[in-house]
Amino acid sequence: MDDSRELPLAARAEALRHRPRSWVERLEWRAVFASAETPAHIEVDLGAGDGGFVVERARRHPERAFLAVERLLGRTRKIARRAARLDLANVRALRIEASYAAEWLLPPRSVDAITVLFPDPWPKRRHHKHRLIRTTFLDACARALKPVGWLGIKTDDASYFDQIRAAAAASRLLAPWEAARADELFPETTDFERDFLREGRSIHFLALRLREATACPAAVAGAPLASC
Ligand SMILES: C[S@@+](CC[C@H](N)C(=O)[O-])C[C@H]1O[C@@H](n2cnc3c(N)ncnc32)[C@H](O)[C@@H]1O
Repeated sequence: MDDSRELPLAARAEALRHRPRSWVERLEWRAVFASAETPAHIEVDLGAGDGGFVVERARRHPERAFLAVERLLGRTRKIARRAARLDLANVRALRIEASYAAEWLLPPRSVDAITVLFPDPWPKRRHHKHRLIRTTFLDACARALKPVGWLGIKTDDASYFDQIRAAAAASRLLAPWEAARADELFPETTDFERDFLREGRSIHFLALRLREATACPAAVAGAPLASC
């Protein structure tokens, strides 16, 4: 992956903000990460906020590549600055709407893990239509996942969680990964999560895998499904 540690922080951060050549063609992972080969393990964090989670995860897993997708420009910049401050070469921040990214930009069957952590809950009933997670969104994520990939979702909002489970139940591509534990899949916590835990709120977690993976008899929780 590109190593531009000689540059000043602002320039390094700028280099970590990915601007695709085209917004209507799928990403090319080698171009995203400026690498000669497609990274062997790719994770995507949708609605990454200030990037505390994705940057910490990238720090712990330098051999993996991480794409942080966030629609707010200021937050996208913060993600890139955080990563640049730590001299991480394996993070890119992409400013785009998450469902568009999942549907149109992520190459099919190329992503190992997708996280959607504390998506905006839009608690008022008349605002539920703005919620990100619905079956079409989940299926778009499913098409981006490798056969061994997984999707991890957390929310503190019980009513949204009910809606997420219903959306997942309606998916023809994904099935709940009942045995998966959040602290095993991704022990890193987000800024929002730490605030919620301090306030004593419950955190709801759902992991999903492709139906074809859940059909594999050799699948065990936490293990790559290499034998499937
Ligand atoms: C409640 S924050 C959670 C941030 C982060 N995941 C965390 O847990 O710390 C939700 C984030 O998702 C972003 N967001 C909301 N809807 C989005 C969408 N449709 N596409 C991309 N980002 C979105 C918001 O701008 C915000 O930064």
